[in-house]
Amino acid sequence: MNAMRIIQAVLVGGFLFGLYVVAMLWPGALDGPMSFMVADGPVAAAQKNVFWYTVWVSLFLMVTVGSVFIYAIYRFRAKPGADFAVPEQSHGSAKVEIALIVASCLLLVVIAIPNARALFYVDSVPQERREEAIKVVAIGHQWWWEFQYPDLGVTTANELYIPVGKPIEVEIRSADVLHSFWVPRLAGKMDAVPGQINRMWFQADKAGTYQGHCTEYCGDSHANMRFLVEARDDAEFEQWLRNEKKDAAAPASVQEVNGQRIFMQGCNACHMVKGTGAMGMVGPDLSHFAGRKTLGAGIFENNDENLAKWIKYPQQMKPGNLMNLQQVNMVLSDRDVDALVAYLNSLK
Ligand code: CUA
Repeated sequence: MNAMRIIQAVLVGGFLFGLYVVAMLWPGALDGPMSFMVADGPVAAAQKNVFWYTVWVSLFLMVTVGSVFIYAIYRFRAKPGADFAVPEQSHGSAKVEIALIVASCLLLVVIAIPNARALFYVDSVPQERREEAIKVVAIGHQWWWEFQYPDLGVTTANELYIPVGKPIEVEIRSADVLHSFWVPRLAGKMDAVPGQINRMWFQADKAGTYQGHCTEYCGDSHANMRFLVEARDDAEFEQWLRNEKKDAAAPASVQEVNGQRIFMQGCNACHMVKGTGAMGMVGPDLSHFAGRKTLGAGIFENNDENLAKWIKYPQQMKPGNLMNLQQVNMVLSDRDVDALVAYLNSLK
């Protein structure tokens, strides 16, 4: 390959890389709900900053080495009519080699210090803020998330309520296989490993809904294993908590009573409804089901139509889903399904 070819290749490569960088930096290109380029809390910010810092140092290195390389190719190319005798060669310069080793080490140190600092920062809630931290146990199941608040005495599923501006200390476990807990705008991912407890923390700086996703392949419905983090100001969080601590509402209408009766003939084997005889621990706790926005771990809007479909055809709604009506000998008529929908919707 001659020198011009190499230069062309480098230029084309550089152009494509440049396009990539421009696309990344383009306003709006990276601010989607699952973008880790938007940091809505201090942990995500620390991770994002260290990412960009490392990218810039690496870019500096690439441009520096690349320009010397291109210059050398151009400067020492075979010119037409030049004599092709091999020029005088030199081997081993202690000075140059030591200088290059020192420069490389310095660059590594320059990258390592902020990275190490960020690693320690994101590892656990800063000492002086431990007191105000809210503890959450996040348990990955095939294919949904259980969220327990051990100090507050409540358990929920797929929608994690947190107070704004407070550090959230998360203990991550798995009930079955490998999963991974990831809310890109709040913090980097952390695996849920069977038989092991992993820890992380994060904080949301503003109220809102943050999307999360399981990010370790965990079987048929891995892609359907989403969740939401709902950050609320203190008053709203307290209100949510007070409601969550209560027993489930008692059925009011005839249809709801009917729904509860059907629920107790099978659904109760897997689901908990606080204050009733339903104490199943296999599926999500449904004590305050009607307060949830989504169904099936963040994949469907929680409305009557979707709920009825979910109860009738859980396998079509979410392939591989462990909800299995045959297993608990449930055969449901359309009227039964409507009654169940009414009952579940009464669980505010
Ligand atoms: Cu759970 Cu992928």
